[in-house]
This record gives sequence, C-alpha cells and structure tokens, in this order.
Amino acid sequence: MAIALSKIVQGMEPSATLAMSAKAKELKAKGETVVDLSVGEPDFNTPKHICDAAVAAMNAGYTRYTVASGIPALKEAICADYLARFGLEYKPSQIVVSNGAKHSLHNAFFCTLNPGDEAILPAPYWVSYAELIKLSGAVPVIVSTREEDDFKLTPEALRAAITPKTRMLLLCSPSNPTGSCYTRAELEALADIAIENDLFVVSDEIYERLVYDGAPFASFPTLREGLADRTIVINGVSKTYAMTGWRVGWTLAPENVSKKMASLQSQETSNPCSVSQYAALAAVTGDQGCVDAMRAEFEKRRDYVAGRIAAIPGMTCGKMGGAFYAFFNVQNFLGREYNGVKVETSQDWCMALLEQKKVATVMGSAFGAEGYVRASFAASMDDLKEAFDRIADFVS
Ligand SMILES: Cc1ncc(COP(=O)(O)O)c(C=O)c1O
Repeated sequence: MAIALSKIVQGMEPSATLAMSAKAKELKAKGETVVDLSVGEPDFNTPKHICDAAVAAMNAGYTRYTVASGIPALKEAICADYLARFGLEYKPSQIVVSNGAKHSLHNAFFCTLNPGDEAILPAPYWVSYAELIKLSGAVPVIVSTREEDDFKLTPEALRAAITPKTRMLLLCSPSNPTGSCYTRAELEALADIAIENDLFVVSDEIYERLVYDGAPFASFPTLREGLADRTIVINGVSKTYAMTGWRVGWTLAPENVSKKMASLQSQETSNPCSVSQYAALAAVTGDQGCVDAMRAEFEKRRDYVAGRIAAIPGMTCGKMGGAFYAFFNVQNFLGREYNGVKVETSQDWCMALLEQKKVATVMGSAFGAEGYVRASFAASMDDLKEAFDRIADFVS
C-alpha cells in the first residue's frame, strides 16, 4: 500500500537551487570539473574567533537543550545591535532564534497567516517564499517587477495587487535573486501603503550587511513611527558571517507574534543547536572587521561579474547593489540550438550550460521570472573567471 501524501505537501516543489547544486555535485563526483554558481553560500570559512567560541562552548558543556527560542545572551546581543545600528528598541522577548532564517520565515508565516489569506510576493522572489507561504495555507500573490525598475515593486503595482484578502507583504532587500536594493524613499512609499491598507510586512533583511558602493541600508521598522508593530524582520548569521551550515537565524517581531513563534518552535524543533548559538553570539558581539573584509571581496567580484556580463552581446543584468547574485537576462539566447540541443526556456539553458560547459546556475523560472538566470558570485575569482569564460564560449 502506498501511503497517501497530505494535500498540503502534494503541491510542494523541492528547492530548485538545492536541486541544481545536487546535480552539480553528482557531476563532480563523476570527475567532471564543475564550477558551481548555483547555491547562495559564501565560499569563505567561518571566521576563526567564531569557531573558537563554538569550541569554548562545547568545552564548557553548553551542549544541552537551551531555551527553545534561543539563549538570553544572544537575544540581548541582537537587541543591542539593532539599537546601536538602527536606533530600534526591541526587547529580548521579541526575538526568536531559529534553525536558520528559512526556519524563521516558516515560523513567521505559520503563526500569522490563515488559509485563504493573500500574501503579496514581488517576483523575482527567493525560491522558498512561495512554498513556505503555501504551507501555511495562504495564497502567495505573485506581483512581477521589471528589469527596467531594477526588479523593485512600485507603489502602483502594490496598490493594484491589494484585495480585501491581502494580509501580508513580503520584501527582501538586498534581494535574492536580483541583488537589487530599495532606497529608503522607495521603502517609505511601500510602508505607507501597508499602513493605509492595514497589512503586516515580513522584511527579509538577511543580506543587509552586504550592500555595496557605500549605500546606506534602511531597516524596514525604522521607516515610520509604529512600523515595528506591523513588521517581522528576518535576519541571521548565514550570509553575513559565512555561517550557512551552523543554522542560526532570527526574527524581530511584535511580542504577541514572538510568543507564538516561540511556542511553535518549542513543539516543532526545540532550540537551535546550542553550540551554534554561542558561535552566533561571538559573531554578533565580536569585531565586525571580518564582515567588512568579506563585503569588500564580494564587491570586487560583483564588479568583475557585472563587467563579464556586459561584455557578452545581448546579455543584460540589473544593478547589483547588494547580496551576491547576478540575475541576468538570457531572453536573446533562447529559441536556439546549442550543440544540437534545443533550448527554449531558462531551465533548458541552465541544463545545457551545466551538461555542456559544466557551469551550474539556476533558472529564473524557479524565482518566478522566466527568461533570466541566477549565478551566485559567492565563489572565488578563479572560479568566476572560469565560469564566465565558459558561459561566453557557450553563447558565442
Ligand atoms: C533571502 C533569503 N532569506 C533567507 C535565507 C535562508 O537563510 P538560512 O541559511 O539562514 O536559512 C536565504 C538563503 O539562501 C535567503 O537567500
């Protein structure tokens, strides 16, 4: 007898990013020299002082269950950091530390959305948002943005998407997958519409420290008085401190939401890894020079990748103001044959690139934007050079 799957998971798609990365690993295991630009993961090692804090925590015996929603010292450090950098006053009871920011997003959606609620999701969007919103029973309302607008949601498009069922707006700036960053004024215009229409906002700020060209970053709750009461901020250590495998993310949210997310987490997963929490504490409270150094390196790579894309006739790419992704337009390269293989869609293009040139990227369709491809530049300069040599060769 086959066990029937629940209705809620039947329609759930696996992560396209992780699927491409798995395919790249499979080819590597067969001895192919694959350049993997599919996954959004810094290639740097976690800074030593953070690893040392984890070892010290283990040796001190901090290896037992912690409070399910995170150790008090980490919550206090997050509050102190938000006060110092943004002037935002959060209490430790408003912080829930989870098993990565992806888990934080699940907690946030699950505790606030009801079946049938509409959640506005600007596309291109990060792969997991739509699936996690659907898991809560709510409906992701995808609003396409345009390359000419740097893939940013305009006030007009937001207004047009709001219905009596709309409850939530999701924003991600700097953006995965496009790297675009909203200015403070652009966010204020969206915040005003959210307030007028009584929406709450999930603001995914996981790339907030990876902003380039000296541009300022505006945390969403700072935009208007009282906005913190209708905002759930998502953040964590994965991208900022090269700590993807440690699995620590967090939410800053109104107290009633935090309390429920803590209860949900206490039932679903208990605390995030105790040792990882001590490592995250060292990350947040320690010298931030490591972040500056990584950001400077990412910025160099961003410049290099932007130059390589611009040098390919017919290929365009939006402005990459932050994060570590290039989201380039391949529409001029579809409807062609590549070594006898017909390529019609961004998925075909990525597959042919991987099979023929051994470069792993992710199709735009996975991010709700057909005709585009995402390449992560969180890879070494040597790998980026090799990858773009192969891409240029592939399309020529
Ligand atoms: C926009 C965005 N939010 C959240 C996450 C999840 O991060 P974590 O590794 O902490 O779960 C990612 C990871 O790719 C991301 O790109």
